[in-house]
Amino acid sequence: MINITNVPISQKNSYPNRKINFCGETCVEKLGKDVFVGLRKELIQETSFFREPDTLEFIKKYIQRMFTDKQEINILDGACSKGYETYTLAMMTDNCGKKINITGFDIGNNIIKEAKKGIFIIKEIAGDPDNCVLLDMHTAANNDTYLAFPTKAPLSEKEIEYKNLFNKFFTEIPYKKPKQTFWEWMVELALKKYNPHIAIKSYKINPDKADKCKFIQGDIMKLDQLVQPHKTDVLLFRNALYHLTTAENDVSYRAPLPQKRLIPTINQFVVQVDKAIGKNGLFVLGSHKSDHSEEVASILYKNLKERGFEPVYYETKVPAIWKRE
Ligand SMILES: C[S@@+](CC[C@H](N)C(=O)[O-])C[C@H]1O[C@@H](n2cnc3c(N)ncnc32)[C@H](O)[C@@H]1O
Repeated sequence: MINITNVPISQKNSYPNRKINFCGETCVEKLGKDVFVGLRKELIQETSFFREPDTLEFIKKYIQRMFTDKQEINILDGACSKGYETYTLAMMTDNCGKKINITGFDIGNNIIKEAKKGIFIIKEIAGDPDNCVLLDMHTAANNDTYLAFPTKAPLSEKEIEYKNLFNKFFTEIPYKKPKQTFWEWMVELALKKYNPHIAIKSYKINPDKADKCKFIQGDIMKLDQLVQPHKTDVLLFRNALYHLTTAENDVSYRAPLPQKRLIPTINQFVVQVDKAIGKNGLFVLGSHKSDHSEEVASILYKNLKERGFEPVYYETKVPAIWKRE
């Protein structure tokens, strides 16, 4: 039996033989006129496949072992960005013996349009990544390079499992470089000799797997307008809290909102989370430090506890996974 009470498990972002560097995708979207996120002007949409896999493994086991009487499970992937995380959930819960309904939502209009296309990239960096200059390559998302490129070190058992799942879900297609502005092209050219070569492969979701995930545009702060109350079994909102709790800044999570704005913001956030999740359902945060900043931790913890959530998986100030009584 899985022990679901206060299980402190250390979160490994990557496997020991890999460097966390230059992988996943780093999109930035300007906020549309209809979109309001605190004091921010931009959405940072960095993500990758199999990011923070330990948390996802916990969710998978929980679904299999704790929802024994349920044949259908509803997963809501909040802040899904381009859908890497959403399809990762589909891959990891494939063949788990239940019907899994997965919906990804994100406040970004453009990123949801992208997610619906079902096209993803995986990068490999040749050269010394530590000498890299280009900022947009510095993504902290988990390393998914091994899914598409040969590796020097042998793959771990988990990596082999994930790679097999990936091959079942995706087919390689020719990579099309996105259109660049003249300025972007100039910058790339100017910095070329300082940056390692990046090989990029492009993949499309297989038609028979595409319907495993739905994507909709939506705001976590108005979740009750998106989903029916208490019908969600697992709600993720990973590595995205700083959009709600910080002001615009290069190092976003270092510029917290003043307390008098932070408290009502987190209250509203938790009210929405609480309304959406059903009995024994899970609420999942990311392990990125922005989800657990000093300013946010105590308010979030207190609010979740008051609403009957219990931590079931943690290593940070605010546990990463909470179970609703
Ligand atoms: C850094 S990405 C995290 C993506 C993914 N969850 C992961 O961990 O790889 C943060 C995402 O949060 C989204 N976001 C920000 N505020 C949001 C809100 N109020 N409701 C829904 N999504 C939001 C952004 O558009 C962005 O795609």
